[in-house]
Parts: sequence; structure tokens; C-alpha cells
Amino acid sequence: MQIIIRDHPSEVAELAAALVRAQILRKPECVLGLATGSTPVPLYGALARMSEDGLLDMSLVTSYNLDEYVGLAADHPQSYHTFMREHLFDRAGVRPDQAHLPDGAAGNPDAECIRYEAEIKAAGGIDLQILGIGLNGHIGFNEPSESFSKQTCAVELTQSTLQANRRFFGSDEEVPRRALTMGIGTIFGAREILLIAVGAGKADIIRRTVRGDITPQVPASVLQLHPNTRLLLDREAASAL
Ligand code: GLP
Repeated sequence: MQIIIRDHPSEVAELAAALVRAQILRKPECVLGLATGSTPVPLYGALARMSEDGLLDMSLVTSYNLDEYVGLAADHPQSYHTFMREHLFDRAGVRPDQAHLPDGAAGNPDAECIRYEAEIKAAGGIDLQILGIGLNGHIGFNEPSESFSKQTCAVELTQSTLQANRRFFGSDEEVPRRALTMGIGTIFGAREILLIAVGAGKADIIRRTVRGDITPQVPASVLQLHPNTRLLLDREAASAL
């Protein structure tokens, strides 16, 4: 794991955008793995601005998002489909037919997971995977558990994740309890991984991810074994290292 620390979250976003841009310049038809959450929003803003300014061409990029809530259709205001369209795809010119997320409204979630996993493989796998990290160490929606999930799967969200997601929904009842997520194995298969974390709230889980045991109780700890992972942190997120 390579650890890069910047003073301010805005510098983290700028560097992350430069790394994504470098990947796209190296291979314009690359496959990106994308994340949601508040952390990558400034990164997507920077990529959108670069595209609007003619400094970046994402028209040949294919993307696969990590996850989606079970039960939310693509046009639901809180779906990750909507999030990605608003923060990145529409502004940066990522073609809709090349921007993929699991279908949270699929009638058969298990079949949808098998289909999504096969699609990623058929695309040649992921060149660069962007990750955030949950307060409990989840990546995608792979929650702490007894084993590392191998492939895209349907998962129950933990209480801590439900609480973290509550702010996006009108009431407790509206917060989705399940999600479809790339597996730890899917994520680990990416040729390059860039995990971004900012803020003091992430300091403890970053310490456990980097310095703790490799355990499915801290899903992100598996990244210690990945041959090409960068952690890009601000001072606060790195403060317990
Ligand atoms: C959600 C997403 C994760 C993301 C996490 C952290 O759970 N499924 O991919 O890493 O939120 O969100 P934030 O960046 O807002 O802390």
C-alpha cells in the first residue's frame, strides 16, 4: 500500500483527479470502478470541470459502480444511479450506455449480481477502482463479516451504515436495508485501486485498515495484500497512523 497525505481535502481531490486523468490519458477506453458517498464528490467535480474545459475526454471510458440500494429504481432521487448522473456522468460526458451500476430494482437480485459480475469480467476487468471507506471499514457495501465476499452479491446493511445513510432519506423507514455490491474479490481484481478518505472521523478506521490485522471484520484491511493500492488521505484522516 502506498500512502499519500495532503494537508487539505481539496488537495486530495485535485490529486485524485490528476491520477484518474492520467489513467484515461494512458488508456482512453479504460474501465473505471466508481464509488459513491460524499468523499468522491469533489473528485467528480474536478473531473467534470476538466471535461467542461476540454482537458479530459471521458467519452470512451466504461465505468462500473461498486453498489446500489436494493429496491431503489434508477430514477429514484437517492439511488446511486441518480447520484452518479448528477455528480459525474452528465457533466463529464460519460456515455449512458457505458456507465454501469447494479440494478437495485431487479426482480431477482441474485441473478442481477451474477449478471453484473459477468459483465465486469467481459469488459476485461477494472483498470482503476476508486474507493471510499465506511466508518466500519466497509468498501462498496461489504460490511464487516466472517469472510471476504468473492463476487457481486446482495447484502444486509449494518446498523452503523443505516445510521450513516439516514441523512439522505426522509425517515428511518425509507432507508434501504439491503444493497447489491461488488464483492471484495471483485474489488481486489482491479489492476489499480485508489482509496480516498478525508476528515478526523475516518482516522481510526484508516489506522485499522493500514496497521491492523487483515480480517473480514475490517473489510478494507484486505487492501494490505493488493499489489497496486494507493491510499490518498488528508492530514486528519491520517492522524492516527
Ligand atoms: C457508502 C458507499 C461506500 C462509501 C461510504 C462512505 O456506504 N456504499 O462506497 O465509501 O458510503 O461514505 P462517505 O464518503 O460519505 O463517508
